[in-house]
Amino acid sequence: MKAPKSVYICSECGYQSARWLGKCPSCSSWNTLEEQVQEEPVAPQKGRARISAVTESTAVAYKSLELPEYIRSATGMEELDRVLGGGIVEGSVVLLAGEPGIGKSTLLMQICDVLSARRKVLYISGEESGGQLKYRAQRLEIEGENLYILTETAMDRILAQIESIGPEFVIVDSIQTMYCKGVASSAGSVSQIKESTMRLIAIAKSRGISVLLVGHVNKEGSIAGPKVMEHMVDAVLSFEGDRQQIFRIIRAVKNRYGSTNEIGVFEMGEKGLSEVSNPSELLLSGRPEDASGNCAVCIMEGTRPLITEIQALTADTSFASPRRTANGFDYSRLYLILAVLEKRLGLHLSTVDAYLNVIGGITLDEPAADLAVALSLISSFKDITIDRSLIAFGELGLSGECRAVSTPELRIREAERLGFETVVLPKRSYDKLMQTKFKTGIRLIPVKSLFDAVRILAK
Ligand code: TYD
Ligand code: MG
Repeated sequence: MKAPKSVYICSECGYQSARWLGKCPSCSSWNTLEEQVQEEPVAPQKGRARISAVTESTAVAYKSLELPEYIRSATGMEELDRVLGGGIVEGSVVLLAGEPGIGKSTLLMQICDVLSARRKVLYISGEESGGQLKYRAQRLEIEGENLYILTETAMDRILAQIESIGPEFVIVDSIQTMYCKGVASSAGSVSQIKESTMRLIAIAKSRGISVLLVGHVNKEGSIAGPKVMEHMVDAVLSFEGDRQQIFRIIRAVKNRYGSTNEIGVFEMGEKGLSEVSNPSELLLSGRPEDASGNCAVCIMEGTRPLITEIQALTADTSFASPRRTANGFDYSRLYLILAVLEKRLGLHLSTVDAYLNVIGGITLDEPAADLAVALSLISSFKDITIDRSLIAFGELGLSGECRAVSTPELRIREAERLGFETVVLPKRSYDKLMQTKFKTGIRLIPVKSLFDAVRILAK
């Protein structure tokens, strides 16, 4: 008999190597390669029959294929449902990933209330005792009509309980605590996570059970271990934000049943997470008056416009190379904008430190935020206040030109709704608006380049 073959898998990034290495060549982490013994392929077990059946299929004509009809269940939280693509799909396996303490268990316990109103839900926790779960559930005022709690980490017993209770929804909190008997490594290792996930997927697909898995991510923000399970599950939702920030945001990193554009916004309070359906209002509350360096911006998060404020601060530097920090904005993009301002407008920004901050822990990863970033930097540098009722959006090119952005109309309507009076936008986006009428007679100022935009500030 041949000795079983081993592969070494990086628990950070999923890199595979034939031999052990101290440092992962892919993500440069130390001591993250774990041995996984590759077993001889065995005859498919009962649960996996469906997966292996795929290999026996024959090709079918594309035209004869029918669109699947997904049966979705609303979770009672619209913000979450939207990210899922309209609710939890029957028989799907969803991974909810986030740092410890972000609110994963809280959110899942909250949706249990609606889900268990008419159908059986099994909440499996490998992290907390029944008492602790009950305590949290009471605080969240969960009725839990058909809610079952199982505190267990052994996959064999978990699967047996699923068989005997017959739930329609299963929550596994967290996948890192689960272990399968036949697998040699400890819970939380790549092989354990992979095997546990595979077994849960098999039961989900064969019985039409919807499974929600909790996965902890490490400090670096990658899903510890579960990088390997990302491609196995149907959807990966990432829960972001931290304790100091107002918002907790859920975004879909992968979704087989919906778009990955949407985000869900929540706020953590006394009674768990509450939905924030108008995040812009919250973000704009408490704006400073008459302070230079502030500019409101409108970005798109999926199909929703979101307005927040950018704050810039420039101060004479005492360093040989000036400091630059960016919170919620791409660092290299900040460098780029600073370079454009220096070269095209002749502002001597290389003599100052520049700090950039986006309010509310929002990350602006849309180039449409460029113009407002540039304006807030100019405002701070020249100490000119930008009118509080002014909002700007537009992408900046290297020549200082202002490029068109998507859906200007939606952005303007949101600005209008929140009482803004002036919108600075790219000329090309303005031209696209044609005859669109806005209710309040909001003033639109089209700009072709940074030069035009600066002139507005000077007025
Ligand atoms: P938790 O859901 O346990 O986080 P995770 O499962 O992602 O590790 O809890 C998140 C934090 O939220 C916890 O530190 C306590 C706090 N919290 C509230 O502020 N209000 C509440 O109603 C609850 C249940 C928790
Ligand atoms: Mg938890």
